[in-house]
Amino acid sequence: MGRELFATLLNPEPRVLPSLLLCDFGNLEREVRRLEEAGVVGLHLDVMDGVFVPNFTYGLTIVEAIRRLTRLPLDVHLMMVNPESYISQFAAAGADSLTVHCEAIEDPRAAAQRIHAAGLAAGLALNPATSLDRLGSDLGEFDLVLVMSVPAGFGGQPFQSVALDKLRILRGRVPASTILEVDGGVNMRTIADCARAGARLHVVGSAIFHSADYRTSIRDLEATASAGFRGISEFN
Ligand code: DX5
Ligand code: ZN
Repeated sequence: MGRELFATLLNPEPRVLPSLLLCDFGNLEREVRRLEEAGVVGLHLDVMDGVFVPNFTYGLTIVEAIRRLTRLPLDVHLMMVNPESYISQFAAAGADSLTVHCEAIEDPRAAAQRIHAAGLAAGLALNPATSLDRLGSDLGEFDLVLVMSVPAGFGGQPFQSVALDKLRILRGRVPASTILEVDGGVNMRTIADCARAGARLHVVGSAIFHSADYRTSIRDLEATASAGFRGISEFN
């Protein structure tokens, strides 16, 4: 578990991570089983505290519940103030990676070191309005960089193409071993551009959980991402 399980996500092929924000939490086990049967490589858990973002979702008890349900890597996105105070609790709850927002911490390098000391992979996220300069010069300390293509806080928002510019610049700045992840408004119209720009993990909420069949939507999204990554289009 932890950082070595997260390392299984280091894959040249672009993949989709379902975002557990818009799923049916009243049937969480059924939702996780449907995603496993759809062949996903991991789950993205959106933790929101109602302070860093104007929305409130879930915390440690839901992360623990999902950990008991699945052996898939849990990619936990902390949209909260003071995230460093909760690293050990999220590690104990079963997270495999913790992504903190650069807007919510003072020292990215120290945050990465504390997350690694807890045995987890470390991610650094930035909102669309935040400049890449805010990430600092220690990106090599992180296992992943999460480029938000919507302002953190809600699913179902429109994709902001500034994320593509950031992905292209980051691809040239970070080691090949650093995963670039994109999150927000990723769907059949935007995912190929994200893969082409350098994203390898594509967080998807609405385009999966508002679809009739999770397996079909994930298959089509990943095929479109791969086609974009290879510069071909199978869906035109
Ligand atoms: C927003 C979350 C995203 C969001 C994605 O703050 O971090 O993961 O749930 O949902 P869609 O794909 O609907 O934008
Ligand atoms: Zn997220």
